[in-house]
Amino acid sequence: MIPRQLEPEVMDTREEAIDYNSMDHSEVNRMFAEDVLELVTARTGAGNQRSVSLLDLGTGTALIPIEVCQRNNCVRVVATDLAVEMLKIAERNLLQAGLEHVISLERADAKQLPCSDQSFEGVISNSLIHHIPEPGSVIREIVRVVKSGGFIFLRDLLRPESQVELERLVKQYAGQANPRQRQLFHDSLHAALTLDEVRALLEQCGLPPDAVQKTSDRHWTVSLVLPDPL
Ligand SMILES: C[S@@+](CC[C@H](N)C(=O)[O-])C[C@H]1O[C@@H](n2cnc3c(N)ncnc32)[C@H](O)[C@@H]1O
Repeated sequence: MIPRQLEPEVMDTREEAIDYNSMDHSEVNRMFAEDVLELVTARTGAGNQRSVSLLDLGTGTALIPIEVCQRNNCVRVVATDLAVEMLKIAERNLLQAGLEHVISLERADAKQLPCSDQSFEGVISNSLIHHIPEPGSVIREIVRVVKSGGFIFLRDLLRPESQVELERLVKQYAGQANPRQRQLFHDSLHAALTLDEVRALLEQCGLPPDAVQKTSDRHWTVSLVLPDPL
């Protein structure tokens, strides 16, 4: 197994934000939104029109909350990131999509959220955990701010077993990207957690370790509905 090699936590240069925004994540984002909306429907019941509050951590340029809200007009998202440059592009994307009335942007550190306990019905995040040197702090914050009976849906890259497999994934999924974007994907795979590391993390934070599954050749997913109070 190749060792974890951290990359910079925050993506806060204008170049990084523009590069990230222009990479084609459409298929990954579509699948993420569909999976989140299944959890939303399971919580509200099909056909129910009441609004559901979600928190997105490490939202980047907000393409995932946009995809979610374009498919379901009952969802409200607080979309957070620590990088100002990402949030600037996110704001432009929201205006273009006409969704600024349902998605609000906030600069926040996922390790120390400025939110009250139990304030969201669902907490979602894509591709954040691999940026965090000690991700337990983020998971504990997620557990604190999600309501009882709410859900947690996290997806991220899975660290490959070997350098050969890593290079294969880069070629397959970023072969057409520019050199900086290829390097970014390479470094992200190197910084990602293994399935066993995610299991151990969940256990440390009081969550069931089997809530994580391998969901593609390069992703893990934690999908978990918390128990309702008695
Ligand atoms: C790979 S991007 C993913 C963006 C988005 N979730 C997506 O899937 O398109 C990771 C994002 O996490 C942000 N990030 C890193 N550390 C963070 C932290 N401690 N708190 C909040 N956001 C953070 C980065 O600035 C970056 O925008």
